[in-house]
Amino acid sequence: MSKIYKIALLPGDGTGPEVLNEGVKVIEAVAAKSNLKFDFVNYDLGGERYKKTGEVLPDSVVEEFKKFDAMFLGAIGHPDVKPGILEKGILLRLRFELDQYINLRPVKLYPNVECPLKGKGPEHIDFVVVRENTEGLYVGAGGNVRKNTPNEVAVQESINTRFGIDRCLKYAFEVTKKRNKDNKLTLCGKTNVLTYAFDLWERAFREMGAKQYSNIKLDYAHVDATCMWMIKNPEWFDVIVTDNLFGDIITDLAAMIQGGMGIASGGNINPEGVSMFEPMGGSAPKYTGQNIINPLAAIMAGAMMLDTLGLSKEAKMIEDSVVKALASGKIKSMAAGKMGLSTTQVGDLIANNL
Ligand code: IPM
Ligand code: MN
Repeated sequence: MSKIYKIALLPGDGTGPEVLNEGVKVIEAVAAKSNLKFDFVNYDLGGERYKKTGEVLPDSVVEEFKKFDAMFLGAIGHPDVKPGILEKGILLRLRFELDQYINLRPVKLYPNVECPLKGKGPEHIDFVVVRENTEGLYVGAGGNVRKNTPNEVAVQESINTRFGIDRCLKYAFEVTKKRNKDNKLTLCGKTNVLTYAFDLWERAFREMGAKQYSNIKLDYAHVDATCMWMIKNPEWFDVIVTDNLFGDIITDLAAMIQGGMGIASGGNINPEGVSMFEPMGGSAPKYTGQNIINPLAAIMAGAMMLDTLGLSKEAKMIEDSVVKALASGKIKSMAAGKMGLSTTQVGDLIANNL
């Protein structure tokens, strides 16, 4: 009997369900062509459930997720729920508890996608950011004293372990090797100021590079300079590896130069466990229910999911279909309401082009 891939669906809030539907539609179309079987199980986590029941993410659900092959998320974030509750309670908790220690963000400008950088095209923007996803400032180490008094003190510490850095670097080196593009890995840090944390990162980086990856060029850029180069010379980047917070910041910048949140996808990856894939755009409450949001990021997140499941041929089929649809000029813009097609029509186009 052939394998059945078990996928947990987390449509979430706002436009999340709309874009996830298209992602699933495309995966089902690929499955029909390649004779693969997927079993999708729906989970109603998000703002609506929280408002109704007060539940964010029951422990038993986290345990259930561990039995899936992968997870596919729409969006988390609700206008009536205080910022942080759902993000921390669902997204961040899953990253920590499922040990999804890599945040993988391919940054690729596809043909006919508008780029805000003058004189830059698809030949200039094709790199990958590997963000550490379980340490740094996201650990939540610190606290307040004398809260709500004029003498309040707040401390928030960045936790960096050699173990956490090494496993992230290892993944980044492997991505660089597998891409085999420029064979260049850039460590993005701040060694001139964060002299403890990034000293450790840099030593670990140089050591692993010298010992295990002599064919890969080791490059270093401070995070501020990384932002500058990403705008000025994005073609310099092949793979960037960085810590949790810097990775969060530079990947939003990177999303803009690849055409915006409508096309940017990412994966929260545990290479030894269960990974979760998502479009980077949020829940976009103002576009909800109008069938105008761009589903391409969700569709490409689906391709990343297949790739991680070892279905690289099928992942490529999806990417090729997206490229073909974009090259045809049928999708006028990446922005919601300006695509010239509805959300479901874009999904149909990709599914039928496979
Ligand atoms: C991201 C998001 C999250 C993060 C938020 C929603 C907690 O911005 O995935 O980049 O900061 O990591
Ligand atoms: Mn972010």
